Parts: sequence; structure tokens; C-alpha cells
Amino acid sequence: MILVVDFGGQTAHLIVRRLRFLGSPAKMVIPEDALETIQKENPQGIVLSGGPISVYEQGAPTVDKKIFELGIPILGICYGFQLAAHLLGGKVIAGRKEYGPASFALLDNTSKLLKGIAKNITVWMSHGDEIIEIPKGFTLIGSTRHVPNTAAEDENKKMYTIQFHPEVEHTEYGSQILQNFIEICGISKNQYAIEANELIQQIRETVEEHHVIGAISGGVDSTVAGTLVATAIGKQFIPIFVDNGLMRDDAVLTVRKVFEQFDIAPIIVDVRHEMLRRLQGITDSEDKRKVIGKFYIEVFEEEMQKLLQEEKDVAFLLQGTIYSDVIESQGTKYASKIKSHHNVGGLPEHMKLTLLEPLRELYKDEVRALGRTIGLPAEFIMKQPFPGPGYAVRIRGEVTAARLAQEKQADNIVLEELECAGWLDSVFISFPVMTGAYSTATKGDGKFFGEVIALRVVESTDIMTATWAKLPYDLLQKISSRIVNEVPNISRVVYDITTKPPATMEWE
Ligand code: XMP
Repeated sequence: MILVVDFGGQTAHLIVRRLRFLGSPAKMVIPEDALETIQKENPQGIVLSGGPISVYEQGAPTVDKKIFELGIPILGICYGFQLAAHLLGGKVIAGRKEYGPASFALLDNTSKLLKGIAKNITVWMSHGDEIIEIPKGFTLIGSTRHVPNTAAEDENKKMYTIQFHPEVEHTEYGSQILQNFIEICGISKNQYAIEANELIQQIRETVEEHHVIGAISGGVDSTVAGTLVATAIGKQFIPIFVDNGLMRDDAVLTVRKVFEQFDIAPIIVDVRHEMLRRLQGITDSEDKRKVIGKFYIEVFEEEMQKLLQEEKDVAFLLQGTIYSDVIESQGTKYASKIKSHHNVGGLPEHMKLTLLEPLRELYKDEVRALGRTIGLPAEFIMKQPFPGPGYAVRIRGEVTAARLAQEKQADNIVLEELECAGWLDSVFISFPVMTGAYSTATKGDGKFFGEVIALRVVESTDIMTATWAKLPYDLLQKISSRIVNEVPNISRVVYDITTKPPATMEWE
């Protein structure tokens, strides 16, 4: 495993992603926990990531110098390079700022890190500081015109340091450089496979003879997590589906079908009516999330009580949290939080359940790959992600029974038409938004003032970034016509053409 120490750089998570993609297990750790994690988990390599702070500033994140003495190969990227230089006797100053492409010249073609790259390549820079003196023992292996000390290494100490970002796709030979580092660490290319059996074994050992209740939603993550646990402990797993009416129609069917093979009938709690009652008068998106999340927990607690009365020994709660949920909800210590997702963050203390999150370190595509490995059919694992608070965050303003019905009807039209045109599998997520904006329209001879629906269809692989799908005009036309004709009181449909960032995928 390669351990990536996260100093808060915008692309730090991409280092983990690329390393895993190239065949090495990798995980992130905050600087404060680096040494302890290294001692405990014995990684084969360490990456020090980029970060927004200057090494000479007070409170700048750092690592214990001991990590340079362990003989484990280290790759320092940007801040990681500056920090290594700073700690090992080099000199870092506020230098010439560079953001974007730079022309990099290879100076030493015996470098193991830069093996196989061209003599001159374009690299991506993002830094305000500069290393004007590399530490003793280091050899310069590459420069750009403005930054002489762009790449350096100390082969004896197995330390490799670069100022540019190999994890960014605009850096030519970036993957090659990371691949070289993986080789330096002695990790063979196909060693990494998400080990379903290992995860299943771990669940068995953790849970022992207790019961696990699982919050399942019919979505990919909880389906994969639930299937793993059901495989591990069979009927000790009690899946619970809270039917609050805010999920897509196929969710209930999915949860029933998934657990049939284990002869497990999920507990399905119908709280649709009460959910709408609690959402009455609530217009703010974070308030909606809170009400939905709180009610969810309440329903869970009630179900728990019932199970306890039946003398079931429930000690764990399964959640399908994945890595992007963790990053986007909590940020990391030195990177900022984007928005709160209610499925992350845990349970009230008094519930006394231990969280079981077997997918916490996996990206979406890895979760899907894992789902395939454990035999789940494509219809379950290729589903679009659907937000925890469901349709509520796709209806701007108050969620009423009438608006929920409009949203669902429009959503089904969008799904049907994308499917029919062969687009459904290639888009990441698609949905209509009840915008809360109103506009004039005429139907027959009558003029009316109806709500505007915005259509959001995006392409993405890692959830962190997304572009709007370039749907054919004919398809957009068809969707628009069907929505305004079939869904009551909708006056027009507009297409959302905003990337993420800056916009998030959901409107709320
Ligand atoms: P955003 O809107 O943050 O969406 O760009 C990224 C992914 O997260 C989903 N999402 C949520 N999931 N609870 C969830 O469980 C939430 O409150 C929530 N908000 C957004 C969104 O659907 C997309 O897949």
C-alpha cells in the first residue's frame, strides 16, 4: 500500500485515485497521523501531497522527520517537495508564482522516477513558493525555465521530489511517473484487486455473533454494502428500508429482489405520509436535510426498539458510505468542506451502535467493480446515484404532495426518454428540478402561469467534477414536450449547462 499524506491540495485525492487506477492500493492520511499510520500499517511507499500553505508559515502542516529515515520510498509533490526540502536543510522562499502549464526539461535520464519520459514535456504547476536550495545529497533531475529546482532525488534515501503535479491529466507522462514510483516501491502492477473475500472475512470477524441492521436505499452503495454483509453473516443482517416517498419508484422493488437470494425479507417501513407532514412549510435545503435525516434516525430507533423487544442482539449499523461522501462532507483537515450529505457523520451517541462502513475507502467505480465481483447484476450496480434526501433536494422550496408527484412524473419521463435514445448508460446522473420559478405559457386558448422545470444531465466519473451532457437537440425537444404536455402545471423546461465546479450536481 502507498500512503498519501494529505496536506490539503485540491488534487490530493486524485493521487490516491491514480495510484489505485495504476494498480497500487493507496489511502490518504492527515499529516498528524502519518507517522503512527506508517508504523502501524507498514506502507511500501509514501507520497507527500501538495497543499495551499507555505512551509515557513506558522502552523503549516508538517510530518515527523523520522519518516525520512525509515528507508520507505517517498515521493514529494509540490508542497511535499518544499516540506522535504525545508526539513532536510534546503531553502524555500516565496518565489515566482506559477499556475498552469510549464515546459519541463529532463536533466538526468538515469532517474528511476522519470524513466521513460520524453526529454521535454509539459507539466502542470500550481505553486507560489520555490525551492532555491535543494538539501545535501539530492541531485537535480529536471528543471523548467523559471524554476531550476523542479525535480530532484536522493537515490540513497529513496527520496524523489517534484514541483509539478503528476496526478493531473494535463501533465504529460504524469501516469508514467506515478507508475515508476509504484515500481520503485516494489508493488507489482496487478497486485491490487478489491478483495471481496477479504472484506467479507473482516465483516465476519468484526460482527461475530451479533446482528447488524442496515440502512438500505436501493442505491448502488447500500446494495453492494448490504450484499457483502448478507454474504458474510446471512440472517444476522437485518436490512431496513425507510420508505419516505422521496426515493425513485424502483427502490422498493430493488431492495426486495437483492436480498431474495439470501432468503432475507427486508423490513420496509412506510412513512410516506408522515414524511410529507414533517416537510410542511420547510423551504431551506439544509433544513430539509436535517428534518429528513432526523426522521430517518427516529424511524430507525423505533425499528431498533422493536428488534430489541424480540431480543435480537443488534450491535452494528451498516452504512454504504463511500470515499467521495467522506471527502465532500467533511473535507480533510486542510481542505474545505463542500456540502453536508446526511448519510455521513454517524449516529446519535445514545443509539450505541457501531458503524460498519465497508466501502468507506472506495470510489464509485471501485464499488461497482466490487459489486460485479460479488455477482450483482448490472441493473443494480449501474444505477445512477440518488441523493439521500431524494426528491426533496430536487424540489426548490416546499415539498408538497402535488409538487412531489410532478417531480416524480417528470423524472420518469426523463429516464424513459434517455433510455429510449440510448443515453441512459452513458450519463452519470439525470433529473428534473422543480425550480420554484414560474413563467407564462398557453395551453389551448388559455393562458396560465406554471412552474419552470430545469433539466440537469451530467457526465462524471469521479463525482468531484462533472460536465453537462451534450444531449442531441431532438432528445431535449422530446423531453421538454413530454414534460410540459404530460405533467400538470409546468410551463417550460430549461437545460442546465453548468459544469461542476463551480456548480454542484444537485441544485440544493
Ligand atoms: P453534489 O450536488 O454535491 O452531488 O455535487 C454529488 C453527489 O452527491 C449526491 N448528493 C447527496 N447524497 N445526501 C446524499 O446522500 C445528500 O444530501 C446529497 N446531496 C448530493 C448527488 O446526488 C451526487 O451524486
